[in-house]
Amino acid sequence: MVRRTAVLIVGILAIGGTAGRLYADDKPAARAASPGKTLFEKKCSLCHADGHGNEKMAGMLHTDPAKMNLTKSQATPDQITKILATGRNKMPSFKYLTADQIKDLTAYVISLRAKQPQLPSRVE
Ligand code: HEC
Repeated sequence: MVRRTAVLIVGILAIGGTAGRLYADDKPAARAASPGKTLFEKKCSLCHADGHGNEKMAGMLHTDPAKMNLTKSQATPDQITKILATGRNKMPSFKYLTADQIKDLTAYVISLRAKQPQLPSRVE
């Protein structure tokens, strides 16, 4: 009985592992589960919302909301890493994060650009 249970557990783990690998290449699922996204929602969304920027927060900080729109950012990975370490103008520093967390966040910030459909953001 013990042996059977052990075989069953090994079987379940094997199936779970395969499914994990099958879905690992699925972009939206990978993004949904990415540590960068989770961190972004905890630490950055307050000001950057879903990446487009929080206009109300821009008003409170007396800064231009366009500067908080990360989907339009041209910053390189090195520049993003630096901004996170030192902060910039009204943006605070996140130097307490680990190097890995900063790497995950940087990758997520860059991924926000590709996701955007090429449509005008506002009809005038
Ligand atoms: C308190 C509000 C606030 C929080 C929280 C915040 N930011 Fe910012 N962020 C800003 C502001 C304001 C700017 C514009 C800075 C400037 O004047 O250049 C900015 C700019 C940036 C830029 C530069 C965009 C560019 O190309 O000019 C990046 C990248 C960025 N933020 C990433 C992040 C990430 C990642 C986090 C979470 C770890 C985060 N920010 C958290 C307010 C914030």
